[in-house]
Amino acid sequence: MSSKPKIILDCDPGLDDAVAIVVAAEHTDLIGITTVGGNAPLIDVTNNALLTCQVFDLEVPVHSGAVRPLVAEPLHAPEVHGEKGFDGPNLPELTRSVDSDDAIGYIIESARSIDDLWIVATGPLTNLAMAFEQAPDIVTKINGVSWMGGSAAEGNHTAAAEFNALVDPEAVDQVFRAGLNWLFMAGLDLTHQFNTDDALQAAVEAIGTPGSQMIADLMANYLNMMDNIIGVRSGGLHDPCAVLALTHPDLIERSMRHVVCELDGTHTRGMTLVDQRGYRDGVTPNVHWGHTIKSDAAKQVVISSVAAQSGHQL
Ligand code: BDR
Ligand code: CA
Repeated sequence: MSSKPKIILDCDPGLDDAVAIVVAAEHTDLIGITTVGGNAPLIDVTNNALLTCQVFDLEVPVHSGAVRPLVAEPLHAPEVHGEKGFDGPNLPELTRSVDSDDAIGYIIESARSIDDLWIVATGPLTNLAMAFEQAPDIVTKINGVSWMGGSAAEGNHTAAAEFNALVDPEAVDQVFRAGLNWLFMAGLDLTHQFNTDDALQAAVEAIGTPGSQMIADLMANYLNMMDNIIGVRSGGLHDPCAVLALTHPDLIERSMRHVVCELDGTHTRGMTLVDQRGYRDGVTPNVHWGHTIKSDAAKQVVISSVAAQSGHQL
């Protein structure tokens, strides 16, 4: 029996979601992939998830989910990932197709039928919020949720809000208050310590496989985009951190915190407020807040995962 954690990866690829898929394929028992509108419209991020599975030859079911947030208008990030979320590589013709367009039903059914299931979420939390709303019994049936999103300090899409949180703050609010057994938050505090840069891009490209070339080309595009936006050829490789929190716990230090998501606020909608006072009367911590990552070791996990999953011995 596999000792790897059984996970569903709920994502919106994007470069860093694609890397999360590859790391999950190597280090987890990846039961399925679900997609949610986020970095790009649902149709595009779903195609990108399928393309990643196709290029890396992953036999993993893909189910598409929520096309839009619970309440907010859809919001995408073409300035970071391109209009269709996967700018950069020469992509092959897509030959894979989705297993269903009912990610929420798939999550509910999997949670009920599979013991010790984890959910790793690397996009807006819309699918999870809808699944928990429709099937409250699964909230404590699953082992827990590891989410890339939020921040204890600055935002990225606005001054206050991280992108995944800003896209669907109501979903964050619902998931954070759902009463999960375990909830991990890989916020920007953590992921900004784990950057894509030219050295990592070159190391991935040097692997020399079709899969590594796709990831390297996505990285090169991301570095160009970051150069345009902030004038630095470096940017957080956010989403794999949510996988690593489960698979490589020694690489990420964490502390219990009480975290809420701002739903109103003139300038602060989508902000995650992390109570840094720690334990106080009347405040029960609900989140394992990741704050420090061993970045060099984590990069080696990324490089070796891309190599192994694309059939290359390092
Ligand atoms: C998050 O937003 C997306 O652009 C990335 O894929 C990541 O999940 C970072 O704010
Ligand atoms: Ca993402």
